[in-house]
Parts: sequence; structure tokens; C-alpha cells
Amino acid sequence: MRKPVIAGNWKMFKTVEEAHDFWNAASSATIDASKVDAVICAPFLQLPALVEAAKGSSIHIGAQNMHQEKEGAFTGEISGDMLKDVGVTHVVIGHSERRQYFNETDETVNLKTKAALDLGLTPIVCVGESLEQREAGETETVVSKQVAEAFEGLTESEVEKTVVAYEPIWAIGTGKTATADDANQVCQAIRETLLDLHGEEAANATRILYGGSVKPANIEELLGKDDIDGALVGGASLEADSFLQLVEATQ
Ligand code: G3H
Repeated sequence: MRKPVIAGNWKMFKTVEEAHDFWNAASSATIDASKVDAVICAPFLQLPALVEAAKGSSIHIGAQNMHQEKEGAFTGEISGDMLKDVGVTHVVIGHSERRQYFNETDETVNLKTKAALDLGLTPIVCVGESLEQREAGETETVVSKQVAEAFEGLTESEVEKTVVAYEPIWAIGTGKTATADDANQVCQAIRETLLDLHGEEAANATRILYGGSVKPANIEELLGKDDIDGALVGGASLEADSFLQLVEATQ
């Protein structure tokens, strides 16, 4: 049995004060950490305060990006060591917004994934097709290639520690969700790619999430599918109530 993951991605939203408001509303929730990994991936500046607030709770704190090098002359960047230093446990890698606006490639995604794993951070590696690619019938080819390249050179045990997030780009922040069956079909294709390249154990153990307009109204149907092990959630993770409803749906 794979433990579900509900990961909130706040993107570029919330001041420190707003993050505290979220926490005040979320901290009383009872989350059974043996049944779900609940993660909030916040902007860098909020991370130390959130790690502090999350001590003793069952919510993990993640970042939304990191640089692949340990340190160096990379103005404006944050390394995995710096994330580790403040107590972060998870990191989103290769989100489509970073691929689209910040020139992330399958190669940088691979380097960042390896760097995160070397530090003991859990990478949440994002893949997904554009609307144009979906309409051309290329979804599974595109996504399988992204997975193969992101996981290139990883050992079986490293693959198992990595979380994959399948996010069709056309479903992000648009209110359009892939049907649960369509999402599951792509997640199944991702698992088959992992099986071909990294073996049965790794394919069976790796958590694969769906992302794209996930909300309390559609989470149960998505979680009901065999190859969907949770969700990467943008908009609906900004309010404590809806984030907690998503977490509760897994229990
Ligand atoms: O990382 C989260 C995804 O981009 C989904 O965002 O739930 O606002 O559609 P959304």
C-alpha cells in the first residue's frame, strides 16, 4: 500500500502574516501521519517560520524549487543545503511554471532531483503535457519522456523515495480538471515507464500524484483511482479549511 500525499503549493502567494493565519486555522487539525503525508510548499521567505510552527504537528514543510549546486556564484538562488538547514523536508522540482517561465529543462530537473535525494529531501517531480500536445495525442509519449529523463541515473531506492506529480498544464489554475479516468490513465503510463526503466519494486512503491484544479469536490473520485496516490494542489491549498478537507479525504 502506498501512503497518499496531499501537497499544497502556495506558489507566489501569502506574506509571513498570512502564513501565520493559515497555520492558526490549520494547527488544531488532527492528521494521522501514518495514513497521509500532508505537505505545504511555501515561498522561500515563509519557510523558517512555517518549519517552526509545524514542529510537533503532522504537516511537513516543502519548498517550490532549489538550485542543483551546493553553493556558488548563483545570484538569487537557494540551494538544497540551505533548505535542509532550515528544516525543510520536501521540494517541488520542475513545476510547469518553472519550465515555462524560468527555462527549467528535463536535464535541470534530473540534476535537481539527484541533488535533493543526496540531501535526504523528498523531491516532488512535476511532469505534464500542454493542451496542444494533448490534442495531438502525444500525452503519454511526452510525459513518459519527462519521467525517463528526470529519473535518469537514479537507483531503485532513490526512485522509490521520489514523488511524481502529473499535472496537465491546461488543467492548472483553469478550473478544468482532467477526468479521473484520464488522469489515472496517464498516472498508469508513468508507472509503466518506471516499471520498464527501474523495475517492479520501484514502480509499485513510487507515489504518483495528480495536480490541476484539485478541490474538495473532486478529490475523492481522483483518490479512488488505482494509480493516483494523492494530489499536488495550488489554489485549494491556500485556505486551511479546503487544504484540510483534501487531507481528510485520504483518511
Ligand atoms: O502545483 C499545483 C498545480 O499547479 C495545480 O494548481 O490546483 O491551482 O490548479 P491548481
